[in-house]
Amino acid sequence: MGVDFDSDLGKLQRLMAESIAGTTRRNAILSELHIQSADTIIDVGCGAGHLLIHLAKAVGNEGIIYGLDPSKAQLEQANQRCSEFDNIKLIERNADETQLEVDSCHSATSTQALEYIPDVNPALDEITRILKPGGAFVNVSILWDHFKFYGAEQRLNEKIHDAFRAHCSHQMLPMELPGKLERRGFKNVKDKSLAFVITRRDDNSPALYTEAVMASFALTQGISEEEVSDWRSQLKKAEARGRFGFTSFPVITSAYLG
Ligand SMILES: C[S@@+](CC[C@H](N)C(=O)[O-])C[C@H]1O[C@@H](n2cnc3c(N)ncnc32)[C@H](O)[C@@H]1O
Repeated sequence: MGVDFDSDLGKLQRLMAESIAGTTRRNAILSELHIQSADTIIDVGCGAGHLLIHLAKAVGNEGIIYGLDPSKAQLEQANQRCSEFDNIKLIERNADETQLEVDSCHSATSTQALEYIPDVNPALDEITRILKPGGAFVNVSILWDHFKFYGAEQRLNEKIHDAFRAHCSHQMLPMELPGKLERRGFKNVKDKSLAFVITRRDDNSPALYTEAVMASFALTQGISEEEVSDWRSQLKKAEARGRFGFTSFPVITSAYLG
């Protein structure tokens, strides 16, 4: 069972998108895409549309931005966020069935979405199908094995992290992606680390939102409320003592269709 983005966890995911971690990713994606005015670009798994507005400004009125996501709740948020832009079109679909024309997009991008798709191959086939020759694909996915809290008692900490593995289908997608892209005819595949470390749990900290996501997910995996609340209070105490940490390791992968 994975994360249900239509639920309260979707709200936390949107808060994370608005945090510094989200901003850093969007800047990295915009710089890798080499956008031209009047381009057509798709954001696969666009969520609440934080990236769409930046893409829409970059392509101008002659361009088209598609935001695709199967979650109604996420697309409702995207619809509100993007209401001022006539050049953004939202598509409520899965990544493997965009229904766009062959060779219709100058580039495609996806942020922390492909790792949630159990069989990612049909989604990559679809992205390849709709990209024009020479088109760019820029993906950000997390190396979940390196997504870690520090500061709680080790056994309990590992228990909560182990439970969280079930939240997505691919723990280490950035390691699999280069081969998958090359086999589909992509060239010049490059990876770059967007890793970060946080040692405070302030109000708009991605660490605090992540902690909340992992805590509610642990409950769905049969971990007791007592253990989950112990884990959170241990992290809080660790922070007070100046020995708290959270590390995340997103990777940006870019490639061009040969
Ligand atoms: C962690 S959120 C990321 C959202 C957004 N890209 C961001 O960075 O804020 C993952 C998104 O992937 C979407 N998703 C899940 N399964 C999908 C699928 N099969 N095809 C496309 N998107 C999917 C979810 O609905 C969710 O909005």
